[in-house]
Amino acid sequence: MSVQQAVSQAFTACYHEPPSVVVRAPGRVNLIGEHTDYNDGFVLPMAIDRAVWIALRPRADQQVHVHSLDFAASESFDLANLRHTNAGWVEYLKGVAWALHDAGYALRGWDGVVSGDVLRGAGLSSSAAMELATARAFQAVAGFAWDATAMARIGQRAENHWVGVNCGIMDQMISAAGQAGHALQIDCRSLEWQPVPLPAGVAVLILDTTTRRGLVESAYNERRAQCEAAARYFGVRALRDVTPGQFAAQANGLDDVTRRRARHVITENARTLAAADAMRRGDAVALGRLMDASHVSLRDDFEVTNDALNVMVTCAQQAPGCYGARMTGAGFGGCAVALVDTGCAAPLAETVAGCYQARTGIAPAIYVCSAADGATRVAGFSAM
Ligand code: GLA
Repeated sequence: MSVQQAVSQAFTACYHEPPSVVVRAPGRVNLIGEHTDYNDGFVLPMAIDRAVWIALRPRADQQVHVHSLDFAASESFDLANLRHTNAGWVEYLKGVAWALHDAGYALRGWDGVVSGDVLRGAGLSSSAAMELATARAFQAVAGFAWDATAMARIGQRAENHWVGVNCGIMDQMISAAGQAGHALQIDCRSLEWQPVPLPAGVAVLILDTTTRRGLVESAYNERRAQCEAAARYFGVRALRDVTPGQFAAQANGLDDVTRRRARHVITENARTLAAADAMRRGDAVALGRLMDASHVSLRDDFEVTNDALNVMVTCAQQAPGCYGARMTGAGFGGCAVALVDTGCAAPLAETVAGCYQARTGIAPAIYVCSAADGATRVAGFSAM
């Protein structure tokens, strides 16, 4: 049974009528452009065919009642009286309601059932998927216009100020605005984006190391602070504004760690723009090489990989049919992404799994994913 069917059936069982609305918002994998979003830089993520789904019906009042199939728990909140209760998953929904209300959107209550197949904690943006599915649900019942950029900002605000996680804008932007068959080249300063087609004959593999490191948040915040310090040193608003020439001329005045952090961001921005150009040319070889170089920079300069990610990426790069591979997302464990020849995807996944397990003793999870649309209201609201 698909997740869509599961939420629709559970809704019908609970409320004795089919849902009047079903919405979904996807997780994402970032092809290249890592730790650049909070430096006002460029990213190249794609929305994946794994999503958070909500089946719902509007209510006449300001109550939201929602049941999570994944947590086997029900929660309620009052839109007229939003409070933190540290109740876990429902805080994402409340945070979006709070951010929408704060931005002046008129809201209306709903009854819903939520579930998803975006792995949580793996770096595939299950939180952004939850936020954007929630925004879509409120949009569907209240009837305001759907503006992907505005909704991405709402999701990020919920995450930064309600949930309390200091993320950039990439995950919410791609979950809101993704396009099937494409990655999006996003300028994280202007928030303009352009769809970039995946080259013909390539598949994208997600390689989950199944390692999860604690303290990701503090390490992430530390990297952000180092980037801000570097931007101050160069006298610019954000590292996006430092050219490779300026870096070469002035970087020797920085301490070693800050210099390497800045070098990652500045070179990664250039790689990301080059990667988008390679995709437009259909050049999978060039794209793969840029992904490989991105991993080296994240490993040696930004220092956000772990042994498991390094082994996984090496195993992938050595496998026949692989154009390139790198860690993806915040790092410190979680997933890598590989660009592979479509014809080789299945045997390559097996080879990489065997190589990774032999070297680490850990069983990985590997799957092929396709580029999906961003948050949608699904038409034809059947109970199936
Ligand atoms: C996490 C954050 C994003 C981005 C990436 C690193 O996924 O949520 O905003 O900073 O890490 O590229």
